[in-house]
Amino acid sequence: MKLNSKQAVVLFCTFLICLSMNCQDINHSFRPGQIWPDNYGKHINAHGGGVIYYDGKYYWFGEYRLPRTEKDKSRYGVSCYSSTDLLNWKNEGLALKVISDTASLLNPGCLIERPKVIYNQKTGKFVMWFHHELKGRGYSAALTGIAISDKITGPYKYKRSLRPNAGVWPLNFPEEYKKSTLKDGDLKSGSEEWKLAVKEGLFVRRDFEGGQMARDMTIFVDKDGKAYHVHSSEENMTLHFSELTDDYLDFTGRYIRVLPGESNEAPTIFFSKGKYFMLSSGTTGWKPNPARVAVSRKIFGEWKYIGNPCRGTEDENMITFGSQSTNILPVHGKKNVFIYMGDRWIPENLADSRYIWLPVEWENGNPVIKWYPNWNLNKLK
Ligand code: GAL
Repeated sequence: MKLNSKQAVVLFCTFLICLSMNCQDINHSFRPGQIWPDNYGKHINAHGGGVIYYDGKYYWFGEYRLPRTEKDKSRYGVSCYSSTDLLNWKNEGLALKVISDTASLLNPGCLIERPKVIYNQKTGKFVMWFHHELKGRGYSAALTGIAISDKITGPYKYKRSLRPNAGVWPLNFPEEYKKSTLKDGDLKSGSEEWKLAVKEGLFVRRDFEGGQMARDMTIFVDKDGKAYHVHSSEENMTLHFSELTDDYLDFTGRYIRVLPGESNEAPTIFFSKGKYFMLSSGTTGWKPNPARVAVSRKIFGEWKYIGNPCRGTEDENMITFGSQSTNILPVHGKKNVFIYMGDRWIPENLADSRYIWLPVEWENGNPVIKWYPNWNLNKLK
C-alpha cells in the first residue's frame, strides 16, 4: 500500500502520540517535593487529594487547581488519575466539573477542596464528598458537597451541598452544654473564657439549627463498611466525626466531637493493628505547621494525642517536612503498610503545589514519618 504525504504525516503523528502514551513509566521512585509528571509529562494536578484502590488500579482524586495562565473558570473541578504502581499516573481528566449555570451552587468561581471518593458495595455507586465553598463568599459557607457516578473515573453528577447534622446534638455533648445560654459575642474572641466556652459547645449551639460547619474533610470507611465523614467544624476549632447512611449519600445524625477546641485541620484516618489513628495539622492556612497523631480503640471513642509523627530535624518537624496531610494511603495487598500523602502548598500558584509522599514507619507501635528525598515501595516491606 502506498501512502500519500498527508496520510504519512497522520500515521507518523499517531505513532508519536502512541509512543508518548506508552512511555508513561517515567517515574522510578517517589521524589517528594519535586515535579511529578503524569503520562503526558505534566505535573500532576490533584491537590488535597485521596487515593482509592478499585479493580486492580489506584485512583487519585484531587483539587484541579487552575494554572495561573488559565482564566476560564469553567475548567475547574476534581481531577482523576489512575495507576497500577503508585508512581506512574495516567490523567483521566476532570471527574467532577463546575456547572456553568448561575442557579447551581457548583457554578464557576466556587471552591472545591479535599475531594474523597468511596465505593459503595451495596449500591455499586462511587460517591464523592468534598469541601465546598460558594462563589464570592470566601470560606464562610463551610459546606460539604456530594456527587455520584456509576464509573469510577466519572463524570460525577453533583447532587447537593449541605451543612451536616442540622437539629441534632453530638452523641458526646453533655446536657449542661445544651442548656447553656452563653452566645458567640458574649466573650472576647481568643480569650481564655472564650476558649473554654468553645470547648463547651459555643459554636455547636450557634449552628444547631442550620447545621454544623464542615471545612477540611476526609471520609473513612471502616472494616464493617460503615463510612464516616470527618471534618473541621466549629470555626475549625473542633473536629466532628459523622456517620454516613448505608448508601453513603447522607448523614445518619450520629456524630461526635473530637479533641474539642484543639484546632485540627487536614484530618486523615487509618486503621492498623486494632487501633484507629488520625493524622492532622494545626490551622495556619497554606503555611505548614507541626502534624499531630491521635489514637483511639473505637472510631466513636476517646481520641488521645500521641504527639508529632515527624522524625526529622527540629525545623523539619515544625513544618511536617514542608507539608500538610491529606490522606494516609493503605498499599494494596500489603498488611499494615501505608503511605503518608501531604501537600506542599504554593499559594501564589496552587497548581504548582508539590506532593510529599513518605512511607509510614513504626516506632513502639506508633506511626512515624521520616524524610527520604528518593524512595520506592521496597522501603515498605
Ligand atoms: C488550609 C486548608 C486548605 C485550604 C487553605 C485555605 O488550612 O487545609 O485545604 O482550605 O487552608 O487557606
